[in-house]
Amino acid sequence: LEALASDHSLAGRHALVTAGPTVEPLDPVRFLSNHSSGKQGYAIAAALAARGAKVTLISGPVTLSVPAGVVCVKVQTAREMLGVCEAALPAEIAVCTAAVSDWRAKAAAQGKIKKTSEGPPVLELVENPDILATLCRLANRPKLIVGFAAETDDVLDNAVAKRQRKGCDWLVANDVRRGVFGADRNLVSLITETGIETWPEMDKSQVAGKLAQRISDVFVSSIP
Ligand code: CTP
Ligand code: CA
Repeated sequence: LEALASDHSLAGRHALVTAGPTVEPLDPVRFLSNHSSGKQGYAIAAALAARGAKVTLISGPVTLSVPAGVVCVKVQTAREMLGVCEAALPAEIAVCTAAVSDWRAKAAAQGKIKKTSEGPPVLELVENPDILATLCRLANRPKLIVGFAAETDDVLDNAVAKRQRKGCDWLVANDVRRGVFGADRNLVSLITETGIETWPEMDKSQVAGKLAQRISDVFVSSIP
């Protein structure tokens, strides 16, 4: 704790962290969402704050408490999450861990959708904005942007392609076949411009600490 408290390697840096699921209403009582406990994102926010960064955590609904020294803005939808991220800029660092719903209802019903003899409703969906890809393309882009990828098949191939497609600097890939949702441990690979490192399985708080260390190395060594 003393070592953490005295680490100011990210002092003066602003970090955005997205976490948790987004929730997209279908009608006043139903929604479309994703599995996400928020644990990994909240742990990363805490680890960056412990290194002296100013941290803005933009979070979908989760049951976790906000880490000490972190400013948290709670949101529901992907569009709200993007709006809060853009409003929170400028930032030197962005870490996008949120499980953003890829789609939302084209128009959420104003009143509750009722069962009828016509059978189930057909939901018309539209794609949500990609928060990570949008941040990567902004003129005032954070200098270091880290994405996450939850994959069930061909984890590393998909993750390498995803890093390219999104335009992020680093991508943390995890294999979600292993039951990581809600778990305390994680097995991840870090994909950077120089290659792929697979880290041993460890607690999500340790993954957060190791990632925050790597981020602070970048800022301490090369970025003014
Ligand atoms: N992400 C985002 N906004 C979205 C979708 C994803 O910011 N609308 C971010 C996630 O927070 C994560 C990264 O993009 O950091 C990868 O998310 P993922 O769902 O794995 O990628 P997709 O591009 O949505 O591809 P797919 O779900 O089809 O695998
Ligand atoms: Ca997705």
